[in-house]
Formats: sequence, structure tokens, C-alpha cells
Amino acid sequence: MRERRPTVGGNWKMHTDRTSASRLARDVIDALARESGADIAIFPPFPYLITVGSILRDRPSAIRLGAQDCWSGPDGAVTGEVSTSMLRDCDVRIVLAGHSERRHIVGEPDGLVNQKVLSILEAGLDCILCIGETLDQRERGQTDEVNRRQILSGLDGVRREDLHRLTIAYEPVWAIGTGRTATPADAQDAHAKIRALVGSLYDAEVAEAIRIMYGGSVKPGNAADLFAQPDIDGGLIGGASLTPQEFVPIVRAAVPAGRG
Ligand code: PGA
Repeated sequence: MRERRPTVGGNWKMHTDRTSASRLARDVIDALARESGADIAIFPPFPYLITVGSILRDRPSAIRLGAQDCWSGPDGAVTGEVSTSMLRDCDVRIVLAGHSERRHIVGEPDGLVNQKVLSILEAGLDCILCIGETLDQRERGQTDEVNRRQILSGLDGVRREDLHRLTIAYEPVWAIGTGRTATPADAQDAHAKIRALVGSLYDAEVAEAIRIMYGGSVKPGNAADLFAQPDIDGGLIGGASLTPQEFVPIVRAAVPAGRG
């Protein structure tokens, strides 16, 4: 049996308001409070981190607070940005780096994503490094090359001993928010190659241990087939994380039978 612990994140993106964020947090925590078979995190928008964090503190559960992004350096004169020490101060435990909406809407280059990964790990936080190809890149047959470049750059300078705090999220850009999901076989193929690449950069033990989650239109109806693939260790969920009716069954689909 696979030893890697499944991991599921709910990326709320730029959705919710103060009231609905609080309600969603409460509903998700209440439904999943006794779920111990997976690592679960929720990623509210920055302005609601404190509110959601205090709800998480008040209701015992293993769900962790995550942030969708951060700045790549220490506190200082960087207008509009949020540092890793501020996130820690708000009880954030895990941070996304290089989400495709940051790479492609905001224009974050590989080097900046790498700096963010390094500062997240340096701050003692866990990191989810997001990678994945666009539709155009996929149609040109560049999927493996893009994933390789984003992994090589994203992990540049990451020490072996910090890798247990890093998860990779493979999120093909054409599948995000579009309702188009990679087939389980296509996703498995990409994940196996990513794992092999991590093995060549570090070693076989690291490759076996690192968790690779899939993201891109994961729904209750397709989650089980995706998560059953040997190299898919859970999912990063966008749209379907905004209602407990969809998010909770997705989390359950990630937990192997008998471990919940
Ligand atoms: P989606 O988003 O589930 O809405 O496709 C996934 C993500 O961007 O993390």
C-alpha cells in the first residue's frame, strides 16, 4: 500500500466575503473535524485569514490555515505585499507558490516563484509548489518540458531536509476552472514523470516520499478516479472548495478505505 499521506487543499481564490468565508470555514470544519486520514488545508483570501484562523482555533480539527501567495523576502518597503512572517503571525501554516493564476494573470516568472518557495520554507512554513502547462503548450507537445522547467527552477536551492514540507501540485492550466479535467491516465503520466524528475534531482527516497497533488476541475464525480492513480496523492481544489457539499466528498475520496 502507498505510504504517502493524502493531502487536499481548498483554494478559495478571490471568492467569499467576510460572512460567507466564516460560514464556509465553520461548515467545512464541522464536517471534517474527525477526518484524520488526510492532511487538509483551506486557503481563504488574505483579508479573511484572521477571521478563518480564529474559527479554526475555536473548533478542534486537523484542518490547517493556508495562504494563496506571499512575498519573496523579509518585511520591508514592498507596497501591497504580504510577508511570510506576517502569515505566520496570522497562524498560517502552509502557502501556495506559483499558482498558474499568479504565473499567467499577474506574470510571475519562474525565478520569483523560486524565491517564494525558498522564503516559505525558510520561515518554517509548508509550501505547495504549483506547476503545469497551458493549453497552447500542451498542444505543441511541451507538457513534459514545461513541467521540467518549472520543477527545476522551483526547487532550485531547496535542501533535501526541507522537502518533507514541500508538496508539488500539478495543475494543467487548461483544466483549471474550465470543467475540463485531465484524464486519470494523463494526470498519472505527468505525475509519474514529475516524481522521476524529483528522484533524479535528489534521490529515490525523496521521490517516493514527495507528495504530488492534482488540480484542475476536480469534482466529487471525478475525484476518486484521479486519487486512485498511484502517483496522485490528493488534490488542490478551486471551484469545488467553495461549498461543503462538494469539498467534503472530495476530501473523503482522497482517504484510503479504513484510514478515515
Ligand atoms: P479549479 O481550480 O478546481 O476551480 O479548477 C484549481 C486550482 O486552481 O487550484
